[in-house]
Amino acid sequence: MAIAAYPNLLAPGRIGAMELRNRMIVTAMGVNFGEDDGGSGERVLHYHEAQARGGVALIISGACGVAYPVGQVQPWQVAISDDRYIPGLRKVVDAVHKHGAKFAVQLHQGGLVAGDDTRAGRPQWCPSVPEPMKGDFVDGFLLPELQAFASAGMPSYKVLTHEDIQVVVGQYAAGARRAKEAGCDGVEIHGGHGYLLSSFLSPKTNTRSDEYGGSTENRSRFLVEVVRAVRAAVGPDFAVWVKLDSREVGKEGGITLEHAKVTARLVEDAGADAITVSSYHDTGQGKLHSASNIPHEPNWNLPAAQAIREVVSIPVIASGRVEPEHADKEIAAGHFDFLAMGRKLLADPELPKKLAEGREDEVRPCVYCYTCVSKIYTLEATCCAVHPELGIEYLRLDPPKPQAAKRVAVIGGGPGGMEAARRLARDGHQVTLFEKSDRLGGTLRFASLAYAANEGLLDWLRARVEESSVQVRLSSEATPAVLAELRIEEVVVATGARRDMPAISGSDLPHVFSGDDMRRMMLGENSESLAGKTSLLTRIATKAGAATGLTANLDFVRKATRTWMPLGDRVVIIGGELVGLELAEFLAERGRSVTVVDDQPRLGAGLTLVRRLRLLTELREHGLGLHAGAKEIRIEAGRVCFTAKDGSAQSVDADHVIVAKGAAGDLSQAEAFRAAGFRVHEVGDCRGVGYIEGAMRSAMEAADAVNAA
Ligand SMILES: Cc1cc2nc3c(=O)[nH]c(=O)nc-3n(C[C@H](O)[C@H](O)[C@H](O)COP(=O)(O)O)c2cc1C
Repeated sequence: MAIAAYPNLLAPGRIGAMELRNRMIVTAMGVNFGEDDGGSGERVLHYHEAQARGGVALIISGACGVAYPVGQVQPWQVAISDDRYIPGLRKVVDAVHKHGAKFAVQLHQGGLVAGDDTRAGRPQWCPSVPEPMKGDFVDGFLLPELQAFASAGMPSYKVLTHEDIQVVVGQYAAGARRAKEAGCDGVEIHGGHGYLLSSFLSPKTNTRSDEYGGSTENRSRFLVEVVRAVRAAVGPDFAVWVKLDSREVGKEGGITLEHAKVTARLVEDAGADAITVSSYHDTGQGKLHSASNIPHEPNWNLPAAQAIREVVSIPVIASGRVEPEHADKEIAAGHFDFLAMGRKLLADPELPKKLAEGREDEVRPCVYCYTCVSKIYTLEATCCAVHPELGIEYLRLDPPKPQAAKRVAVIGGGPGGMEAARRLARDGHQVTLFEKSDRLGGTLRFASLAYAANEGLLDWLRARVEESSVQVRLSSEATPAVLAELRIEEVVVATGARRDMPAISGSDLPHVFSGDDMRRMMLGENSESLAGKTSLLTRIATKAGAATGLTANLDFVRKATRTWMPLGDRVVIIGGELVGLELAEFLAERGRSVTVVDDQPRLGAGLTLVRRLRLLTELREHGLGLHAGAKEIRIEAGRVCFTAKDGSAQSVDADHVIVAKGAAGDLSQAEAFRAAGFRVHEVGDCRGVGYIEGAMRSAMEAADAVNAA
């Protein structure tokens, strides 16, 4: 029986008076889908409706401004600061209810994080004037990102008087009343993440000496007053709960678990029906989301959720990169009661339904690329690298339907090609997928080796193609003659980027590998091109690996390369974009002393902002030399020489040099098929390097175009 696999996660539950069909919740995510005036319009509605249709029990809105525009953190944040927001919200709630899910609003005032206050020339509301932000946070920004981020300018502050505090308490109560009038099933009071209420909870930002500062009880007073006022506004039969930080990571003198336990008990006494357990961080640090509210560390917040559950008698909602299987066990063990998921449900809103139907293998996995969160930092609407429909559901209510079943050739079995083939087969077309190597995956295989989370997508795409009607032709070259013979009507070209060796002096030396050489060596793909560069033993080992199929198993390669890798101890990587940096991490983890050199002014293009910030910080922690803005780079026997940004002449010893640079779009195949008279659609990196997000999005567009033709 399908349900037996997740009996606890799929069991009904209750938060206060709110009955829930299972234990899965869409966590609050401010995704920037609101209207220009803070209204909840069509975009918000169809985004949430897709989640409700996917089988989740409860959807919590993104941070919804109770004092909007005061306290605003995003340009298209949703608001609940006026009765005029009720009708739009009611439509969202009705759409969600149609599918049997419940809807709650997250009540929010941005306080010291309200960049929009600064952008609009308003002061940020706070308990006391904060210390200036310190740390390496902005070092990893690329220049356009820095411009967006810095557009706010320098903040000014409004230290709240007792009267101001009462105004805010009233704003929360009025927001809750409006949520109830709109038909919502509950409200979550945002008491975390550095926003106004948590800036009072944190001893780091609250240095007041009145009854709202000092002891944990005093620092919790504002939140407790909000909970009481909200409860009074909505009555006993409406679910009201609080999101709390269990601690502030890397923020010396910030909230600790002991503080959080005290606050949790106080808000329970004040009338809260549940606690959502999160955590926060020091905003100045580069590893912003490693162990924090949107954690990279799996299960990061679970021990704290359990500790808090032990001191309260109301349900606890946990979140933070928790796999459903693990959550099921934790719920069974009584460690928490509900699982709120964010990124996983952006990647696949149908996750709950798929679990319930025993189709968990079909859940499209989040690859933890941080595209979604990074968009928030650069003040854009969220999108998802693996789920291109996210956020544009309202534009795709009637996506192009196939006019007729067509014979389609997809050329290239990388992520874009597999995704296009999967979609086209699903839509009823007869698809032949040509892949010139002996296995599917393309660049996603190497990307999975360097960043294991990508492997989930690789497996998912491969499984979808294998179970579909797609005819896969491995080790096959598609030519116009072959396609003509198959009477192909439409061609999707997904042949990837061209990677030329850039003009770097010494790049023809025997100790220099291209990114492609590295890939072939690691994955055992066609070792012939490595002849002369690697020892005979290495070539035999690589070939043997490929022949036995061992290197098809990426986990094996990951482990094997920890003990065996045909590279010397000192490696210089020329090229500091996504591929170069991920490779640097991979090699550093395998004991190599790595230096990255690039002529670009900043490293990490191609990585999403949040992931780049973490990776750069981690690489520095590993002790890697990172040289952006290098000039006159030249490779010599045993070393790489260049002029560093500060004008100094540098020489770095190198047993091997890897040039991970020079990838560019390549439309030559697309043009050849077009010239032969085929209708051609281009997908993925052949259009210019677009990584996973570009591949998945263009695959959707190509499938639409084939359908519409
Ligand atoms: C795009 C994005 C926006 C978020 N916005 C909010 C927000 O508005 N309010 C909030 O409390 N948490 C916000 N979060 C944090 C999530 O609620 C949640 O705590 C976090 O994503 C961990 O869950 P996950 O690992 O399942 O993604 C956001 C997370 C993401 C990914």
